Amino acid sequence: MPQLSKKGIELPTSPIRKLVEHAEKAKANGIEVFHLNIGQPDIAAPKQAIEAVKKSKLNLLPYGPSQGKLSYRSKLVDYYNYHNINIETDDIIITTGASEALTFALNVICDAGDEIIIPEPFYANYNGFASAASVRVVPVISEFHSKFQLPALEKISDKITSKTKAILLCNPSNPTGYVYSKKEIQTLCELAIKHDIFLIVDEVYREFIHDGEPHYSVLSDEKASMHTVMIDSVSKRYSLCGARVGSLVSKNDSLIQNVMKFAHLRLSPPTYALMASEAALSAPKSYLEGVIKEYKARRNTLINQLEQIPNVEVSHPMGAFYCIVKLPVEDAEDFSKFLLTDFSINNKTVMLAPAKGFYSSPNVGLDEVRIAFILDQEKLILAATILEKALEAYKKFVP
Ligand SMILES: Cc1ncc(COP(=O)(O)O)c(C=O)c1O
Repeated sequence: MPQLSKKGIELPTSPIRKLVEHAEKAKANGIEVFHLNIGQPDIAAPKQAIEAVKKSKLNLLPYGPSQGKLSYRSKLVDYYNYHNINIETDDIIITTGASEALTFALNVICDAGDEIIIPEPFYANYNGFASAASVRVVPVISEFHSKFQLPALEKISDKITSKTKAILLCNPSNPTGYVYSKKEIQTLCELAIKHDIFLIVDEVYREFIHDGEPHYSVLSDEKASMHTVMIDSVSKRYSLCGARVGSLVSKNDSLIQNVMKFAHLRLSPPTYALMASEAALSAPKSYLEGVIKEYKARRNTLINQLEQIPNVEVSHPMGAFYCIVKLPVEDAEDFSKFLLTDFSINNKTVMLAPAKGFYSSPNVGLDEVRIAFILDQEKLILAATILEKALEAYKKFVP
């Protein structure tokens, strides 16, 4: 047998999809599974986006510019300006989702063996992107009982070594729902300048702010503009996950020039998807206002339901559409499996994402799950009831 690469073999599998096989079996047995495990929005995309593709008269799908069409980047400049982000078309590279933007950023910033610091728990695929770029993730724990706010600055600066190239943050955070304040972002910008490293902030959930102060983009801190990179995507904002369109934005011209080389390698972002993404920007303001209102209502309903379950603790998410929940079980992954293999009420069950995969430190978050509030409120209420009954049944299952 020819040998596969160590890198490929060691690439971590996604914890979000780990239990899929059990969910598929449950479905084959006639069980309806409420997917609270993934952030796949169920709200319709702006009709302008879908119509733009339907009306297209293209008789072939050409490559576009590697950087992304200028007309789209120009409209994005207006969109970002509206959010107090002062950038120009040349500062933007359109990517195949935020996923590609993250891969580009890590490859341009880091060499093999370099380190990036990430507050954990974090979006689990950061582990995979880092591993694919041969970069070492250095986690700094943020605490459940302080809503997962930014860890004390000394804890972060203590981790900075000669190999540290960047700090990576997700704001608002998947999986915790924490929204980093202007002060926290500015403090990290100062740290990045002091140590001459990058601060990469994944802002794909920018609009989804449910409480507290408004979102502060890392690119709004203009003093740090040579040290900052922003990652973005249309996936969640416009329910266009399958479009695969994102962006990497930075005022650092030399970084952009080098990201462009990666963009050239993959030729261009997807043609139809770009059409949909550009048209989505012309959706009326009421579209996003409605979406945000809906997620906030879902959050309130879910939190309210979960708080009524004995011995369950919820970390209040201020943004995005996820929360971390502490369950009265030793191993939340075993419990999540039990929900799919041994439990249902009226042929219905729920699928959760065990939170340990969102930490890179070993043996942390074992009793936690991440729940995505991406179902309508009626289903969320039902899902919470199923969870409560399942916890009771699990006590007998695992004495
Ligand atoms: C924090 C975060 N970043 C990036 C992504 C990937 O986004 P995209 O679909 O644009 O690749 C996700 C998807 O869930 C996410 O939650």
